[in-house]
Amino acid sequence: MSEERASKRAPSDSASDDSNPYLAHRKDKKRSKKQDGATASTMQPGNTTAKQGEAAEDGDINPFTGRPFSNTYRAILKKRRELPVTKLRQQFLDLIHSSQVVVLVGETGSGKTTQIPQYLVYDMQPQQAGMMIACTQPRRVAAMSVAKRVSEEMDVVLGQEVGYAIRFEDCTSPSTFLKYMTDGMLLREAMTDPLLSRYSAVILDEAHDRTLQTDILMGLLKEIIPKRPDLKVVVMSATLDAGKFQKYFNNSPLLSVPGRTFPVEIFYTPEPERDYLEAAIRTVSQIHLCEPEGDVLLFLTGEDEIEDACTKIRLNIDEMRGAGQAGPVKVVPLYSTLPPAAQQRIFDPAPAGEAGRPGRKIVVATNIAETSLTIDGIVYVIDPGFSKQKVYNPRVRVESLLVSPISKAAAQQRAGRAGRTRPGKAFRLYTEKSFNKDLIEQTYPEILRSNLGNVVLQLKKLGIENLVRFDFMDPPAPETMMRALELLNYLGALDDEGALTPLGQTMSEFPLDPEMAKMLISSARFHCSNEILSIVAMLSVPNVFLRPNDARRQAEEAKRSFAHPDGDHLCLLNVYHAYKNNDEDNSWCWNNFLQQRSLKSADNVRQQLMRIMERMDIDLVSTPFNDKNYYVNIRRALLSGFFMQVAHQERSGHYMTAKDNQIVNLHPSTCLDHKPDWVIYHEFVLTTRNYIRTVTEVKPEWLLELAPQYYDLRNFPNCAAKRELEKVARGKSSHAHEHTSKKDKKKR
Ligand code: CDP
Ligand code: MG
Repeated sequence: MSEERASKRAPSDSASDDSNPYLAHRKDKKRSKKQDGATASTMQPGNTTAKQGEAAEDGDINPFTGRPFSNTYRAILKKRRELPVTKLRQQFLDLIHSSQVVVLVGETGSGKTTQIPQYLVYDMQPQQAGMMIACTQPRRVAAMSVAKRVSEEMDVVLGQEVGYAIRFEDCTSPSTFLKYMTDGMLLREAMTDPLLSRYSAVILDEAHDRTLQTDILMGLLKEIIPKRPDLKVVVMSATLDAGKFQKYFNNSPLLSVPGRTFPVEIFYTPEPERDYLEAAIRTVSQIHLCEPEGDVLLFLTGEDEIEDACTKIRLNIDEMRGAGQAGPVKVVPLYSTLPPAAQQRIFDPAPAGEAGRPGRKIVVATNIAETSLTIDGIVYVIDPGFSKQKVYNPRVRVESLLVSPISKAAAQQRAGRAGRTRPGKAFRLYTEKSFNKDLIEQTYPEILRSNLGNVVLQLKKLGIENLVRFDFMDPPAPETMMRALELLNYLGALDDEGALTPLGQTMSEFPLDPEMAKMLISSARFHCSNEILSIVAMLSVPNVFLRPNDARRQAEEAKRSFAHPDGDHLCLLNVYHAYKNNDEDNSWCWNNFLQQRSLKSADNVRQQLMRIMERMDIDLVSTPFNDKNYYVNIRRALLSGFFMQVAHQERSGHYMTAKDNQIVNLHPSTCLDHKPDWVIYHEFVLTTRNYIRTVTEVKPEWLLELAPQYYDLRNFPNCAAKRELEKVARGKSSHAHEHTSKKDKKKR
C-alpha cells in the first residue's frame, strides 16, 4: 500500500514536468533550467543543479580535500547512484531553492540520511562561508554509524570534514562542515547560539519517531525560521504520514521518494504466545532450518534480553550443526549501549553456506533497526510485538522504561525491513486478531510520555518564557508541565514567578537531568565535589557490573568486594576509585567482573563535567578521607539534588516513597545488607513489582534541613513518614531550644 501512495505522490524523474504538484509553487523555473548548462566555476552556492553536483562527484579531485578520489570512493558512488533518492536530486534542489522548509518522506533505505545532506553540501557549499550543515538523529548509534558511512562516501576522514556529536563525545574539528548529531546536542547548542547561526541548513531526520528532543527542536526551528531567512530546514520521515509535518511548518512542500521495496508476506501465530522470547528463538531455528538463503532480523526489547537470546540461538544452532542439519550462522546483537566497533558488525556479510545449506547472519536488535539503521540482506523479520517504551505518570512523578506492545505503524515498519533486497517474510509472534484489536495505530509522541523537567529547563534557558504559548506539535498534558515547573522550583532553578534563577542558569549548562546538575553544583558546599563528580559520571554510563550467566556467583562476590554499608552510590564510588588505583587495567576489570568500556566512558564523562565545573567556577574539593564526615558529606550532597526521591520503610517492611506514597522494594541488585529506615534512590523501576534501584541510606533530619520547602510538614500527606519526620522535627526544635537557651544563659 505504501508503494502505491508513494508513486502517486511523486511522479518519477520529472523535475520540469508542469503537472508535478510538488513543483507548482516554484517561482522561477527558467533560472534553474538555464543553470543546467553552467560549469562548475559558475556554481552559485545555494543555486546549483543536480547535474552540477553529480559532475563534481564524478570528477577526479575531491573538491573538499583537494586530493584525488580513491577507488573505494568510486565503487561506493556507483552504489549510491542506484538509491531511490538519486532520481529526485533535482526535484529536491528545486524545492529547497524555493522553499525554506521541505518535508521529505521515503522508505527506510532509500538514501535519505546518507544522501540528502550531501546534496545540500554540494549545493550550499557551507564550508565556503565557514558554516555547517547539521543532520539530527534521535539515536546516538545512528549518528555515529551514519557519520562513519558518509565520511567514507565523501572520501574524507571521519571527524574532519564529516563528523558527529553525541552527548559526551564530540568527533568534529574546525574543518567539519557536515555534522551528524543527536537532536539533544543541537538543542544544547541552541542555548548558546539561539539562532543556530553556525548552520546553513538543519536536517531533522527520523522526524516520525517524534522523540522528545525532536519535538522541541521542531518548535524551536519554527521560531528561528522567520529570523533566519537564509536557513534551510529539511524534515525527513520514514512514514508516509507527513501531512502533519507539512501543516506544522506552514504548509511546506512535500517530496516523497518512491519506494523500492519488495512484497513481504506476513505470518501470524494461530494462538497467542505465552513466552515471546522462547517463541522468537524457536522461530529463528525454524527459519534457519527450512527457509532459503537470506538474513534474519529479530526485534527484542533490551540489552539483557538480546544477549540472552544471542547465546541461546548460538547454542541451538550449534546443536543443529552438530547433527549436520544446518549451515553456519553469525549472530549479531545490536543495541544502543554496544560499543561502536561491535555495532558495526551488523554490516558484516553472512557466512558462506556449507554443503548446500545456506549460511546466515542473524541480527538481534532493539527498535534501532526499525528505521534508523538499514541492514541490507534481511529477508526474514521476526516481530514479537514489544519494545521498551518510556512511560510517565505525573501524579506520582515516576518515569520508567516499560516493555509495552508496539503500534501498528511500528509493526508495519518492522515487517518492511524484510523486503529491502528481495521479497521477504515477516513472522509476527501474535495473532492477527490481536494485531487488529490490541495494537494502537501510532505510538504516542514521547513528549506525552515523559518527565519534562529537563525540557522545561532547556526552554527557559532558550529564552522561551511562556511555555503555554510555545508551539508544540502535540502539547504535553498540563499536569506534566506543572510537575516539571514544580520540580524546578523545588530545586531552586526557577523562582516563584517561573523565571530562571542564577542557579537554574548554571544547572542548564550541564548536559544532565536537573537533579543531577543540582547535586553536582551543590557538592562543593558539602566539600565533596570531586567525589560527587565521580558518582555522577558512574550514574551516567551503562551498568559497570558484569553478570555472565555462567559465573553469576563469582560476579556477585566480586561486586560485594566493592560494597559500602551505606549504599549503592558509595559502592559506585568505590568501584571508580579502585579502577583508577589499578591503572584502569583491562585484566583487573575482567577479573573483577567490571565492564571496562563503561568505566572508561565514566572517566571521559567525568573529565567533561569537570571542565564545565571549572568554567562555572565551582570548586573541586574533597573532605579528607580519614575525616569521619567523608561519607556523610557525600550522602548529604546526594540529597541536595535527589530529595524528591526518598523512600521510608514502613512497619510491613516495604518502602513507601515520601510524599507520593508508592509502595516500592529495594532492587535485588543493591549492595545494602540491611534495610535502612530512610533511603534515597536514583531510579524507579517498574516491572511486575515496583523497585527502587541504586539506593543509599540517609537521615531524616537531613531531609528537614536540606529541603525544608519540600519537607514542609504542614503541607505533607498523612502517612507514617510524616509522623516520623514530625518526631524528628520536635526533637530538633527542642534541641535547638536547649541550644539557644544555653547560649542565652551564657550571654546573660
Ligand atoms: O535514511 P534512509 O533509511 O532512507 O537510507 P540511508 O540510511 O541513507 O541508507 C541508504 C543505503 O546506504 C542503505 O541501503 C545501504 O545500502 C547504505 N548504507 C551502508 O551501506 N552502510 C551504512 N552504515 C549506512 C547506509
Ligand atoms: Mg535514515
